[in-house]
Amino acid sequence: MKNVLILGGTGFVGSHVCEKLVRAGWNVTVATRRRSHARHVMHLPSLTVQELDVHDAAALARAATGQDAVVNLVAILHGTQAAFDKAHVELPQKIAAACTSAGVGKLVHISALGVNVQKPGAPPSMYLRSKSLGEAILLASCSQLALTILRPSVIFGAGDKFLNVFASLQKVFPFMPLAGAEARFQPVWVEDVAAAVVKSLERSGAGVQTLEACGPEVFTLKQLVEISAKLAGVNAGQGRPVFGIPGWAATLQARMMEMMPGAPLMSRDNLASMQVANVATPGMPDLSALGIQPAALQPIARDYLSQGSPWHDLLGVRLRSHFR
Ligand SMILES: NC(=O)c1ccc[n+]([C@@H]2O[C@H](COP(=O)([O-])OP(=O)(O)OC[C@H]3O[C@@H](n4cnc5c(N)ncnc54)[C@H](OP(=O)(O)O)[C@@H]3O)[C@@H](O)[C@H]2O)c1
Repeated sequence: MKNVLILGGTGFVGSHVCEKLVRAGWNVTVATRRRSHARHVMHLPSLTVQELDVHDAAALARAATGQDAVVNLVAILHGTQAAFDKAHVELPQKIAAACTSAGVGKLVHISALGVNVQKPGAPPSMYLRSKSLGEAILLASCSQLALTILRPSVIFGAGDKFLNVFASLQKVFPFMPLAGAEARFQPVWVEDVAAAVVKSLERSGAGVQTLEACGPEVFTLKQLVEISAKLAGVNAGQGRPVFGIPGWAATLQARMMEMMPGAPLMSRDNLASMQVANVATPGMPDLSALGIQPAALQPIARDYLSQGSPWHDLLGVRLRSHFR
């Protein structure tokens, strides 16, 4: 049985990755800042939870010892420049060093669509710039490893904080003023991303592969908001009026959301990220390189959006982020 250390294994994508790895016969260790964050994965057989400060380089190197592979899913969506650098730049550097010193052969790093590894300073948001720098560091320091970098578009699936939140908002409010309404996305199913992680760990040989992870269809944000309401049965399946708001109003809305407790539903940095189309790059390798044919959004989202209560979902997302 092979051993894998997962960083960020308690999160939305991480939980699906853990489940798939256990099913595939891996011995999984989930490193978490707090054991309680792992309660929904700790029941899985052949999975161990280890409380660890992943930013402590020495502790990380000890945790990597004896592992055949490491998967990095740690990321933040909101924060200061220093927080983005710590999570997306310094941590990958420490992971690379830990893998090298512990003799780990494989690393899978989850990045994001829209990064620019050639010009890491070019993307318009702190999120994308720090993700770009993190990738550049891994490419420079992991030449001996089998390194896979996955760049997903927005990820949907049961428990997402994307379609679920838009559907819940429309169950509560009579209309939706929407920032970035025309921004384009190519949503990918969380199970397809998790399958890509498993297949990347199973590939033989060293070297780097960078793959984009996108679904089969492109949508504007406005279309996705409308689809979420329709599939959730909001207003008898009619949804709510959704209208785009101008840039100045979007910035004001984001600034106000940032001032509320908990993770904001939309920050100014998120708005900046949406200036880059979140769609597949022509010519870039994608999930088909791993033999994965990505699933379409609507048949899957219909299943999970038709359940759940709006206030529970909205408060849940905000409170969970606040008390983490
Ligand atoms: N979800 C999407 O739509 C999407 C789209 C594109 C790319 N991605 C990428 O996919 C990966 C997983 O995303 P996700 O949606 O699953 O994220 P998530 O649910 O927010 O989980 C992130 C995990 O990172 C850990 N973490 C968060 N902040 C941390 C910090 N400051 N220091 C150390 N660990 C921290 C947490 O683990 P503990 O609390 O257990 O320590 C958490 O389980 C990320 O790299 C993300 O950028 C996601």
